[in-house]
Amino acid sequence: MNELVTKLYRDKVLTKEEFIKLISSDKEVREELRSLAEKLRRENYGDEIYIRGLIEFTNHCKQNCLYCGIRRDNKNCRRYRLSLDEIMSCCDEGYRLGFRTFVLQGGEDSYFTDDRLCEIIKSIKGKYPDCALTLSIGEKSRESYQRYFENGADRYLLRHETADKAHYEKLHPENQKYENRMRCLWDLKEIGYQVGCGFMVGSPYQTDENLAEDLLFIKKLNPQMVGIGPFIHHADTDFKDFPDGTLEKTLLMLSIIRIMLPKILLPATTALATIHPRGRELGIQAGANVVMPNLSPVSVRKDYQLYDNKVCTGEESAQCKNCLQKRIESIGCRIAVSRGDSRNT
Ligand code: 5AD
Ligand code: FES
Repeated sequence: MNELVTKLYRDKVLTKEEFIKLISSDKEVREELRSLAEKLRRENYGDEIYIRGLIEFTNHCKQNCLYCGIRRDNKNCRRYRLSLDEIMSCCDEGYRLGFRTFVLQGGEDSYFTDDRLCEIIKSIKGKYPDCALTLSIGEKSRESYQRYFENGADRYLLRHETADKAHYEKLHPENQKYENRMRCLWDLKEIGYQVGCGFMVGSPYQTDENLAEDLLFIKKLNPQMVGIGPFIHHADTDFKDFPDGTLEKTLLMLSIIRIMLPKILLPATTALATIHPRGRELGIQAGANVVMPNLSPVSVRKDYQLYDNKVCTGEESAQCKNCLQKRIESIGCRIAVSRGDSRNT
């Protein structure tokens, strides 16, 4: 085995310089990383792939991230909000299909005050106490995070986007601060959430050094989950002319993260499925163990367009679940009907 791969396997971390070298390694080394990551996924999670039902409940957003299709300044985005009843219907359908984790994801929408959010959280957890509830609703105060947690939220996803401050500032407007993003993640951990961070592979201006810094940050935060997928341009954003992230590099980063944190929850993301017809399967074979299909009503799916050509926007939840099941079984795995908690404690 390559020396750096051996060292990463043994020490579960490398220096920044070593990570940079590993990230630019050739095909042979990438295959070593992939097969090692797949082996570790099996050792820790067997043939079980966890499913999370994603409910994109609002695409109103007060933030203006330069890469994102639902950013505030995108006037071509048709905005929607789901009612509590609509959200509950998504959960009902999801539960019937075998989902035991619901992910409430949305833009930073001031309509959803903490009172309204807590009402939603209590409704879901009241009806489905055997399910885990994940929030992915952006940057909030510590007090707000605390309230959601006390009302029953179990997990929180907030991608750090990039661990490099200067790079962060190239991806976000002036008023969105790197320090606040980091503050949020550490608050979430301290409160007791199972936390997910993450980043886009191939985002504009990203260097291999930035990716190495992402890896070191993830090692330090030691989250329960890491969400990564390729950057994909969106025609109505400032970054419309930037190239998309590649399949190869995304798979490479998935494998490195699996080896660095063997028990982590690692989704094969919709963005990965968007850049390659077998993206999710390839992601799982590179070490991923989670998929997050959409439970949102088909009538609004096309409006939650963070990037162009997003897949699965025309399919009903049941169709998507069946399609995923076939894909997962085609590579010798199976869908688990359980909350799917992280073994990374
Ligand atoms: N391409 C890929 N991923 C994107 N995200 C936002 N915009 C894009 C894009 N253009 C990711 C961000 C965000 C998550 C919800 O989606 O990393 O945190
Ligand atoms: Fe959604 Fe195949 S996974 S349609």
